Amino acid sequence: MKFFIDTADIDDIKELAATGLLDGVTTNPSLIKKSGRKFFEVIEEICGVIEGPVSAETVATDHKTMLEEGRRLAGIAKNIAVKVPLTVDGLKTCKTLSDDGVMVNVTLCFSATQALLSAKAGAAFVSPFVGRLDDISEDGMALIEDIRLIFDNYDFATEILVASVRSPMHVLEAARIGADVATIPADVLRKLFDHPLTDKGLATFIQDWEDTGESIL
Ligand code: E4P
Repeated sequence: MKFFIDTADIDDIKELAATGLLDGVTTNPSLIKKSGRKFFEVIEEICGVIEGPVSAETVATDHKTMLEEGRRLAGIAKNIAVKVPLTVDGLKTCKTLSDDGVMVNVTLCFSATQALLSAKAGAAFVSPFVGRLDDISEDGMALIEDIRLIFDNYDFATEILVASVRSPMHVLEAARIGADVATIPADVLRKLFDHPLTDKGLATFIQDWEDTGESIL
């Protein structure tokens, strides 16, 4: 499963990219606002740090303007994935851009039939929001299972990008189901490295090694 980081914070992106475990970045207008940076400036900087797909979101709601925005965003760098909302106009834009060879990430997906439409529109990625479904007492991960089944039934190339991830358990479940990508906030990504038994075991090994008086180098 690929790991994308769900942030527009360049320091977090650089720090976690240095692990060699990051495959891409997703942003949205709320994350851009949170970064306090200018949109084009921060997206260009992210594309310079990350080789994999960097999602940049359109904000128009009509097809014509959204398409113009998408083309402008796609011109920033080769690894831009243009993000469009899961609306009729968004899917029309997805189809046009995808036919032109642009990577498109269809966002704000909350049902399996919406995901099916995204695949038919040629999306490179569809982003089902598991956390926001859990928030309203619906089962976000059941949606991922449904989409996996449907995409496998028809061999769709569209990648399932699990979004609105809130905890390591979301990442674990996404991997169990066989989602293609999880986009993970920096704080959740850092938690994936941690286990108290790792810390405890390492402390013992270091102490015992010191007691031997030996050195490797
Ligand atoms: C990413 O592409 C989505 O915009 C993001 O994961 C949404 O997360 P949230 O529900 O925590 O805002």
